[in-house]
Amino acid sequence: MPATLFTPITLGGVTLPNRIVVSPMCQYSADDGSMNDWHFVHLGHLAYSGAGLVMVEATHVTREGRITHGCTGLYSDHNEASMARVLAHCRTVSKNPVGIQIGHAGRKASTQVPWEGREALGPGESPWPTLAPSPLPFSETWHTPKEMSKEEILQTVDAFVASAERARRIGFDVLELHSAHGYLLHQFLSPLSNRRSDEYGKERMKFALQVARAVRETWPKERGLGARISANDWAEGGLGPDDAVTYARELERLGFDYVCVSSGGLVSHAKLNVGPGYQLPFAERVKKNCKLKVRAVGMIADPDQAEAAIAEGKTDMVAMARAFLDNPRWVWHAAERFGVKLDYPPQYARARHDAWPGSKLARPSAKGS
Ligand SMILES: Cc1cc2nc3c(=O)[nH]c(=O)nc-3n(C[C@H](O)[C@H](O)[C@H](O)COP(=O)(O)O)c2cc1C
Repeated sequence: MPATLFTPITLGGVTLPNRIVVSPMCQYSADDGSMNDWHFVHLGHLAYSGAGLVMVEATHVTREGRITHGCTGLYSDHNEASMARVLAHCRTVSKNPVGIQIGHAGRKASTQVPWEGREALGPGESPWPTLAPSPLPFSETWHTPKEMSKEEILQTVDAFVASAERARRIGFDVLELHSAHGYLLHQFLSPLSNRRSDEYGKERMKFALQVARAVRETWPKERGLGARISANDWAEGGLGPDDAVTYARELERLGFDYVCVSSGGLVSHAKLNVGPGYQLPFAERVKKNCKLKVRAVGMIADPDQAEAAIAEGKTDMVAMARAFLDNPRWVWHAAERFGVKLDYPPQYARARHDAWPGSKLARPSAKGS
C-alpha cells in the first residue's frame, strides 16, 4: 500500500523526505540557556530516527523569557556555540532537516522544571520578574507579570530577530515561532490574557505579526519558516478555531510556509477535551482555509491514524512528541508496516526485520549475530 506519510514535502526551500515530524520538546536540562551532553545524545539519536524533520525544543529569545532555569536559549554567544556543536553532531549522523522553535514564556516564565513541581519559582529558587501584555498571572499561585511597555515590546521583537539570526548562523533548516501553549505571543493574541487598552490590545495580533514580519525579513527564503498556533483556549471568552484561521492567513500573507496547529495552555482553568487526534479537526479547518502547509499534533501515535490523517487531506504533516520519547524507532517500524524502505544508519541496518532471514515480523534472538 503506498503511504502518503512517506512522501516528501517542501517547506520554503527545504524538502522533508517524509511527513513525520519530531515535535519540539523542552528538556529542561540546559545550563543558562546552553545545550550540553544531554541535548547531544537526545537530539543526536532523534536525528537518525528517520523522521522527516526534527524540531528542537522551545528556545528562548531572552534569559527572562525562559520557562525554567533549564530551558534552552539563543541570547548569548555561548548558547549559540553550544547549539552549533549539537547540530554539527546531528549532521554527522543524518541528512534529514533539523528545525528550531523560538519563543518567549512571558507570564509562564520563572517556573520550576516539571520534575520539581512545575510551580512558580519560590524565593529560594532564584526567581525572576516576568513580563506579559497585562499584569494577570497564569494562576493564583504564579508570578504576577509586569505589563510590558512599548519599549519592552520593541526590544522583544529585536530579541526574536537576534535569535533568528543566531539560528541562521548555526545552520537550522527550519525556524518556528512559538505562538501557542499560552506563551508570550499567544498571551498577546488571546483576550483572556491581553487586556491592554493601547494599540497592542485593540489589535491583539499586532505584536505577534510584528515579530513574524521581522523574523520573515531576517530568515532566508530558501529555508523553512513556520509557527505553532493555538486553535482553542478551551475556556469561555478565549480564542477558537476561527481565530486560528484568521491568524494563519495573516502569517501566509507575510510569507510563512507552514503552521502547526495546537491548543491549550493559556489559562489554568482551561477544560481540554483530549483524546486520540483531538486537535486534528483544528488542523483540518486551518488547512481548508489557507494555503499554508499544515502540521497536526496531539495524540497521534498510531501509524495507520497518522497515514489516514494525511491521506484524507486533513493535514500535510504529523508531529509527535510522547510517541518518540516512548519509541524513537517509530518511523522505522511505520516504514516496515507500509513496505517502505528507509535508509537506516549502516551501523543499525541489521535491526530491520527483513534483514533477518525467515521472518518479517518476529525479531529472532541474538543467536548468530
Ligand atoms: C516533554 C515534552 C516537552 C514539550 N515541549 C514543547 C516545546 O518545547 N514546544 C512546544 O511547542 N510543545 C512542547 N511540547 C508539546 C508537544 O510538542 C506536543 O504538542 C504535545 O505533547 C502533544 O503531542 P503528543 O500527543 O504527540 O505528545 C512538549 C511535550 C512534551 C511531552
